Amino acid sequence: MSSSHTQEPTREQWGTRLGFLMAAIGSAIGLGNIWRFPAVAYENGGGAFILPYLAALLTAGIPLLILEYTIGRRYRSSPPGALRLLSRPTEVIGWWQVTICVVIAVYYAAVLAWAVRYMGFSLDQAWEDHAGGPEGFFFEDFLQAAETPGDVSTFVPGVAWPLLGIWVVVLLILIAGVRRGIERANKFFIPLLVAFFVVLAVRALTLNGAAEGLDALFRPDWGALGEGSVWVAAYGQIFFSLSVGFGIMITYASYLHRRSDLSGSAMVAGFANSSFEILAGIAVFATLGFMAGQAGVEVGEVTDSGVGLAFVAFPQIISEMPAGALFGVLFFASLVIAGLTSLISIVQVVVSAVEDRTGLSRNAAVLGVGGAIAVVSTLLYSTDSGVYFLDVSDHFINQYGIVLAALVLVITVSWVLRRLPMLQREADSTSAIGLGVWWRICLGIVTPLVLGWMMVDSLIDEFDQNYEGYDTSFLLWSGWAVAGAALAGGVLLSLVRWRRTPTATNHEEPEGAPERSL
Ligand code: ALA
Repeated sequence: MSSSHTQEPTREQWGTRLGFLMAAIGSAIGLGNIWRFPAVAYENGGGAFILPYLAALLTAGIPLLILEYTIGRRYRSSPPGALRLLSRPTEVIGWWQVTICVVIAVYYAAVLAWAVRYMGFSLDQAWEDHAGGPEGFFFEDFLQAAETPGDVSTFVPGVAWPLLGIWVVVLLILIAGVRRGIERANKFFIPLLVAFFVVLAVRALTLNGAAEGLDALFRPDWGALGEGSVWVAAYGQIFFSLSVGFGIMITYASYLHRRSDLSGSAMVAGFANSSFEILAGIAVFATLGFMAGQAGVEVGEVTDSGVGLAFVAFPQIISEMPAGALFGVLFFASLVIAGLTSLISIVQVVVSAVEDRTGLSRNAAVLGVGGAIAVVSTLLYSTDSGVYFLDVSDHFINQYGIVLAALVLVITVSWVLRRLPMLQREADSTSAIGLGVWWRICLGIVTPLVLGWMMVDSLIDEFDQNYEGYDTSFLLWSGWAVAGAALAGGVLLSLVRWRRTPTATNHEEPEGAPERSL
């Protein structure tokens, strides 16, 4: 790469504050809200889970969101450039976040493709004819899943086509740009998603058994609060759900106007995401209550999360309820919309990093890098081992990508570089809500302690028993190697001498209080 520095073009900006908020909320609300939250809450104390959940939101989620917004807005660059301006060696964390986003984008799109197909299957309830019911239909007919995880012998066109379709939509929205593409898409999709989910929740609440479902979700098990794993689950849920630690919020905030409010926006985005999460919990558990009632079993017996909830339990319910086809189309359309707005934000991290550091045009960056991710995603997830790759890479990249990168970032910013006071002044200089000492305590003490604990806890689990009972060699190459490659890729990319180096013109020291230590 040449070391000549090209002229920085003017950076695109969000059209309105509402546009930025919609995009931030669209990124946060995703698969994590619809299929992860209800099951995590149920398994970790039900109604009592709300306490650790709120603690995690207030002590880690929102403070980190404010940190990412402030870094992005101050340095007006994607994660590698922004973190390089914070301190040169920190660029590596930015590139690591970019490679984490590549891994997530590759599998996240696959779930959207499945949901697209299931919108169609809901109409004629295609799974009803299968001897194995919805589960047999999903794994055998639809995914044609391999007997042995990791064996690749079949290409599944029924997944490939919708997957390609999802990628075409994502790349077209990204090509249209931040304001005309991402902002407009979110302003359209987010109200639509909320409307769909309100209809789903109202329908679910009017089903027989809904009350039992809600009772199962919200009945507090106060004893759970004494268990460390419940607190770990709450922090894990908040991280994934709020989209913090992926570099997304640094990227989105880099398109903010210099005087835009940061702390207030983080509060709005954080509470909007949690409100939607609780709405999703109500809709999902009211529906599971109906299913349990039909089968004459306890709600706990039909409770599932992730793939099992959406593609096995829900199809069963759709077959059993009156006007199930409409319910099914709305449910899977909601999954597609929620996931699409999150996927756009994940790919945007990669595209903007390439644009910022190579000087490539947006079209070239979207088609070149976005196109390459789309090809890998389509090829890998149209195979008969796609569902296994997804399960394992999702687990490993979350634990040893997102959470680990967030831990390294907070320790570096607060303890090594000691930049929290400076960033606090930056946020306070334009925000309606001033950040007190609580912000520095949350980021400097609470978050590193909790994340460090989460890391140790999950490593012990990992060595205690193989994740989901998979073969060690499969876990090594599809889990550990993927998380390791993301880290190695981040390090390598940080060593490249890129054509464009971010300049320090946009981040003069804000006026305000004198330096404080943590
Ligand atoms: N925050 C996104 C989700 O919940 C990634 O799925």
